[in-house]
Amino acid sequence: MTQGSLLRKITDYANRADPYPVYAELRKTPVVQDEEGPYLVSTYWEIHGLLHDPRLSSDARNLNPQAAGALTDEEDTALPPAFLRLDPPEHDRLRRLAMTPFGPPHTPRRIHAMRGELSRIIGELIDGFANHHRIDLVDHFSYPFPVTVICRLLGVPREDEPRFHHWAETLAAGLDPAPDEDAAERRRTTQQARTELGRYLAELIEERRRAPGDDMLSALAAGHGPEGQMTQAELLSTASLLLVAGHETTVNLITNGMLTLLRNPDVLTRLRARPQLATPLVEELLRFEPPVQLLPQRTPLADIDIAGVTIPKGASVWLVLASGNRDPQRFLEPDRFDPQRKDNQHLGFGSGIHSCFGAPLARLEAQLALTELARRLDNPRLLEDPPEYRRNAVLRGPRHLPVAFDGLRGRDD
Ligand code: HEM
Repeated sequence: MTQGSLLRKITDYANRADPYPVYAELRKTPVVQDEEGPYLVSTYWEIHGLLHDPRLSSDARNLNPQAAGALTDEEDTALPPAFLRLDPPEHDRLRRLAMTPFGPPHTPRRIHAMRGELSRIIGELIDGFANHHRIDLVDHFSYPFPVTVICRLLGVPREDEPRFHHWAETLAAGLDPAPDEDAAERRRTTQQARTELGRYLAELIEERRRAPGDDMLSALAAGHGPEGQMTQAELLSTASLLLVAGHETTVNLITNGMLTLLRNPDVLTRLRARPQLATPLVEELLRFEPPVQLLPQRTPLADIDIAGVTIPKGASVWLVLASGNRDPQRFLEPDRFDPQRKDNQHLGFGSGIHSCFGAPLARLEAQLALTELARRLDNPRLLEDPPEYRRNAVLRGPRHLPVAFDGLRGRDD
């Protein structure tokens, strides 16, 4: 394999079902500049170190013009970047404001309090499989479940999903650095989706200001926290980020999870007998088949020397999380799926100041969903292996997962 082909191999759809041999090849050179420009970082400790390095920026406005030319997403739009794409101190202020109605220290029980509701939504979706002997897990379960949850959490009407589905999908596609596509056209469609989603959320936030509910949009708009309020533009960027992040990631964790369980039926049987297994199992899934495969949008604020390479200020840096998760220097037998793995500090939620904001919710959703699917589906089987994958190289997961089963156990059996 030539070095120049690595970036293309990562994004090549032909490798989507099994990208891991490409990552193994990549790890032979922990940090390498691809002939197309970006620096690819593929080993655990180098990725971890960079995620904790204050010299590595998440703000695309710090890219040099050449690297920025390859960018396919949201600069120059009406909305400012969300905190995912900002550095301290703006990042920290906005993340703290967003966290106020979501988690500790101000709202420590928000996620825990949703447990019963999550179980109810899961139960209803699985009840909907009755009278079927095969389903598409994505369309019938893994997609509608987290969408219903994020709508409930934010206070977005579930019935509006057909309106915002397309915008969310376009924004998720905008994260994918597909080198062969028309960058200008992609930028245009991504910006349009951001603007339309922003307009939709602005109307909704107005309603929540008039008649607040117990949801996060109402709380963020009211801004009663100790640090005051977000501006309207910050509020719209944050709400868009939460809606999209809550949409396009958990669907892949649940689908990758069920695919892995069906490939390892002994683990499925163990999970059915011992639901406590769900906690380490979901961590292992986040390591073994992470829904976010790589972070293609970092840039040094000053030259960084790492693994014998100098990454210059302003260069584009791709951190290949899924490769770090399979690094034999960090994990014992990394290509083995071990649902009881100890010492599992995976990179599935990133690490450092940007580490996933929604992790507690995503974990709980996946734990409850996989446990109930394992418990209620009688003799589930994969109908296609490998299944058809989504195009996206960053947010990786099956587009469909056809599953057959012999029947359904009751909710309380
Ligand atoms: C399995 C599901 C999920 C996975 C695998 C995932 C993964 C990630 C990763 C890898 C990052 C780090 C990005 C970076 O460093 O640039 C991240 C950040 C983030 N995630 Fe998630 N995520 C998931 C679910 C969610 C959910 C449900 C929400 C919303 C409730 C969410 C909200 C966010 C936000 C707001 C950030 C930005 C944090 C920051 O910049 O400080 N995520 N996520």
